[in-house]
Amino acid sequence: MNLGIRGKTAVVGGASRGLGRAVCDSLAAEGVNLVMVARSSEPLEAAARQIESTHAVEVLPIAADLSRGEAIGRLFEMASRRFETVDILVHNTGGPPPGGFLDHDDGAWTRAYELLLLSVVRMVRGVLPGMVERGWGRILINTSFTVKEPAPGLILSNVFRTGVMALSKTLSREVAGKGITVNTVCPGAFATKRLDSIFTAQAQERGTKVETIRQEWIDRIPVGRILEPHELGDLVAFLSSELASGMTGGCFPIEGGMLHGVF
Ligand SMILES: NC(=O)c1ccc[n+]([C@@H]2O[C@H](COP(=O)([O-])OP(=O)(O)OC[C@H]3O[C@@H](n4cnc5c(N)ncnc54)[C@H](OP(=O)(O)O)[C@@H]3O)[C@@H](O)[C@H]2O)c1
Repeated sequence: MNLGIRGKTAVVGGASRGLGRAVCDSLAAEGVNLVMVARSSEPLEAAARQIESTHAVEVLPIAADLSRGEAIGRLFEMASRRFETVDILVHNTGGPPPGGFLDHDDGAWTRAYELLLLSVVRMVRGVLPGMVERGWGRILINTSFTVKEPAPGLILSNVFRTGVMALSKTLSREVAGKGITVNTVCPGAFATKRLDSIFTAQAQERGTKVETIRQEWIDRIPVGRILEPHELGDLVAFLSSELASGMTGGCFPIEGGMLHGVF
């Protein structure tokens, strides 16, 4: 299958490991140049070198905290010095801290808003004018399966990611006639550092073993396994493609059948 995106450039957040890194691998395999973003430069640069040595693409690693507006401004300045255009935006960051309603003060709510929702607004602002001018663009936002079934103990994530869904749908209709698609992907349980830390926190809270928690999660997933990051990477590459030009305003769960709802 030819995805038709060779030579395009993507900005990918949370790119040094986990789901963001997998998206980079999948896009690079299709010949897409990359601006890879994460906060810590060492693992990010190592990931960028690895991708450049495997695929014939150009990669620019930029250390930036996507919850900060000035960092996002700097990142687009640096990206524009290296690449003429940004054609694909994959918004992704780390998740907010777990906890219930009474666990979070105003500071935690504000930080989660900046990390999960305001960062989407700022990143989209950085790419949209150029996409409109060229009449082509792909905006993908990584959220979570919990936008469909809010998860207990993840109130910050549940609230702001639902806002991201509203933003994505509204924006998709605004720009649909301009060759730009806007979609969200909604991962279930994927084998990453983030999931490991959720297992560890739940094990500590319940005074049980991490392995017990992992097995309980697997038991809730009809396909019977934790998914691999490349499965989400390949979905994002497809949604970024020429073939997906008619798919916009969508919310794409990839969760091994965990969700119970019809829609
Ligand atoms: N894994 C799952 O099963 C799953 C399921 C549903 C939703 N999600 C969500 O998907 C996202 C990615 O998850 P993951 O499992 O890939 O997490 P991960 O393995 O912890 O990786 C997170 C990546 O994001 C970067 N990052 C974190 N905070 C950042 C920030 N403020 N600005 C820029 N980069 C940042 C990290 O590098 P630095 O630390 O160096 O910045 C790292 O590259 C998270 O929001 C998570 O909640 C994951």
